[in-house]
Amino acid sequence: MAEGKKSGARAAFIRSVVFVFAVLGVYIYIAEVITDISGQAHRGSVATGVGPEMGREIFFGKGKCSTCHSLGGQGSAVRCPNLGATAGADPPFDIPIIERAALRAKQRSEKTGQPYTATDYIIESHFDPGAYVVEGYKNEMPVIWKPPIGLNADEEMAVDMFLQAEGGSADAAAITNSPVFAKLKAGLATLTSEPAGEAFKPYLAGDPAKGELIFFDPDSPTPCAKCHTVKGQGGKVGPELTNVAGSRTPQFIIQSVLEPSADIASGFEPFLIQTNDEEFISGIKKGEDAESFELMDDQGEVRKIAKADIAKLVPQKISIMPGNFREILTMEQFHDLIAFLLTLT
Ligand code: HEC
Ligand code: HEC
Repeated sequence: MAEGKKSGARAAFIRSVVFVFAVLGVYIYIAEVITDISGQAHRGSVATGVGPEMGREIFFGKGKCSTCHSLGGQGSAVRCPNLGATAGADPPFDIPIIERAALRAKQRSEKTGQPYTATDYIIESHFDPGAYVVEGYKNEMPVIWKPPIGLNADEEMAVDMFLQAEGGSADAAAITNSPVFAKLKAGLATLTSEPAGEAFKPYLAGDPAKGELIFFDPDSPTPCAKCHTVKGQGGKVGPELTNVAGSRTPQFIIQSVLEPSADIASGFEPFLIQTNDEEFISGIKKGEDAESFELMDDQGEVRKIAKADIAKLVPQKISIMPGNFREILTMEQFHDLIAFLLTLT
């Protein structure tokens, strides 16, 4: 490519990056406004079919919950809190979510001065996930009544009843009487008149087929599949992306590619180990026991290092995912790749 054309493309790319961040700013503002609106109490009745069974379907389907959460022995997701009881786990993860929620509700009452029931806590974890962030995890649970998950009030209620029933019993009245549920419904009402979350317009229309080739090509300078699995194919260094657009907004996905270190996914935090022999080893923590520590490097190799040999263990702020894709990808390639990622719902 001629030098002039290349720098022209780069200038256009930088302009689009600036544009993307401007758009992100607007979204964050809208999200804040919606969160601030508090609703009046609705005392609705339960629509037919809404119950734990419908909730289970949503949990393992449309709600995308199971892409991040397991439920006791059901599901294989490991990056977020298990919502069932895990035998032998550190408290409070040894009890199911409805019992755990009662403990968290007490903390929320103390913090806010408002009365909280266990059900209020569960609904709040969906309505405003950042209000209480489970210790050891990050504020990266999506707001599930907003796009792309976008559950409506009945679906939210069904999921709540399903979680109540896992380790307790379904209690519709606890939901319809919850002031947090009323807030969520008020939030939903503003969403329909304000479809901002869906109004993502890419700067260029990308070609998902070309994006797929870029993603899977092991010889490309951006070998995404070396680290990410999509539909059973690819590596395990980074999170599986098979359903990434089903639970993440386009804005989140774009930022993850352009600025991987801005928001490092839980369970993928990088560490640097200095051994007593002055060797430096970096990678993602994959396991730990009394004697050793396991790190996976950016090639997917796992190394076990004896704790006795470790001089220093330092958490890092820079993701294992390369941060230079914005320089390597052309404008077209970037949009092709995003178009492909957005097909992964
Ligand atoms: C993209 C990943 C992701 C998805 C999808 C997701 N969650 Fe979460 N969830 C998290 C993370 C991370 C946390 C812990 C941080 C926090 O408290 O916000 C969490 C926390 C929770 C908690 C509180 C757990 C506790 O121990 O207090 C509940 C309840 C919950 N999620 C329910 C759901 C339900 C129901 C769905 C689907 C409708 C869902 N989540 C979808 C990532 C996710
Ligand atoms: C060397 C390994 C590696 C390569 C190559 C790589 N990634 Fe990643 N990626 C990671 C890791 C590790 C994370 C989790 C840490 C973080 O959030 O930065 C991640 C996170 C992500 C996320 C956020 C997922 C979530 O749910 O939070 C997206 C989206 C993503 N990568 C897309 C891509 C794309 C597209 C490419 C190719 C252009 C790519 N990655 C190349 C390792 C890699």
